[in-house]
Amino acid sequence: FSRALKPVASVAVQNGAKFSTTSQKNFKVVVAGAAGGIGQPLALLLKQNSLVTRLALYDIAPVTPGVAVDLSHMDTPAQVTGHKGPEQLAAAVECADLVVIPAGVPRKPGMTRDDLFNTNASIVRDIADCVAKNAPKAIMAIITNPVNSMVPIASEVLKKAGVYDPAKVLGVTTLDVVRAAAFIGEINCVDPTTVKIPVIGGHSGVTIIPVLSQSCPAVNLTDQGKIEALTKRIQEAGTEVVKAKAGGGSATLSMAYAGARLACAVLRGLKGDSDAVECAYVKSDLTEATYFANPVQFGPNGVEKNLGYGELNDYEKELLKAAIPELLKNIKTGENFANK
Ligand code: NAI
Repeated sequence: FSRALKPVASVAVQNGAKFSTTSQKNFKVVVAGAAGGIGQPLALLLKQNSLVTRLALYDIAPVTPGVAVDLSHMDTPAQVTGHKGPEQLAAAVECADLVVIPAGVPRKPGMTRDDLFNTNASIVRDIADCVAKNAPKAIMAIITNPVNSMVPIASEVLKKAGVYDPAKVLGVTTLDVVRAAAFIGEINCVDPTTVKIPVIGGHSGVTIIPVLSQSCPAVNLTDQGKIEALTKRIQEAGTEVVKAKAGGGSATLSMAYAGARLACAVLRGLKGDSDAVECAYVKSDLTEATYFANPVQFGPNGVEKNLGYGELNDYEKELLKAAIPELLKNIKTGENFANK
């Protein structure tokens, strides 16, 4: 059994040419913040992913080892380990291929994602620092809000440690895509899993730009007012959940689903699949904002190709114009924090 967990690498000889192929199908994934509202269902979903053979659950909460024991009783291959407290973080991330980070506090009614900055910035900084020292080649996928600022923080920490690779740090914006597809599915009366819709920019308020003009199938709305209302609903969908939970937190289950989907795309890229595409918030030179979300293709080293955001209509161009100053501000806040 343990042999089955080892990476499979081979050198093939064809027509006299030598080339390497990797067919690794066994990855170590870490969830940092694994005992939380997102972390637990995310771990549950990752335990069912056949590409995950080691699943390390890290949190500061006392229940963490118990969550690991609980999941370890599932009859799927991933070996689950629990790691509680900062002194166990290094062991959790060692040899990781992917570290997914939902550690930190969520919003309560009336709060913006930026209100979480003071608490969550140091949490993400410290986890990134530990990853830099103990798993410098791991891909980091950050769920913690405000995502727009957390990705620059992690990037600056990795830069300082001399191990920064922009292809390996990403902000998880998949939930915005999932929500957009769910709402369009409802409007069009079609199975939402068949809807393809890019959501670009960032992950908060006006920085969330659903590119409805590129929806496939086309959104069944002709009235511009209705397009704008749908855009607003996608931008404010997180707040819709925060209000409905009435103080009990923000989106957790749909986020876990979205996080597992993103993780799956990253792992499929690492494995060598050529069609692992999702939107993610990454280092970018497409706009003035140095980090920007849009569809990217994952490969053996993380983000392999930035697929850009294609043609925007006039309304979407206006949305982009409104998003850029906010993104620039969020990015600066993150970078200033990391470099202070
Ligand atoms: P939660 O409070 O239920 O869970 C957070 C977990 O992080 C807790 O188990 C806590 O013990 C742990 N934690 C706190 N400090 C830690 C540290 N220093 N090291 C390791 N673990 C630590 O919160 P929830 O609902 O799971 O949300 C987590 C984060 O995800 C929030 O910042 C929230 O805003 C964000 N979020 C992001 C979304 C996105 O689309 N990117 C969507 C929804 C939430």
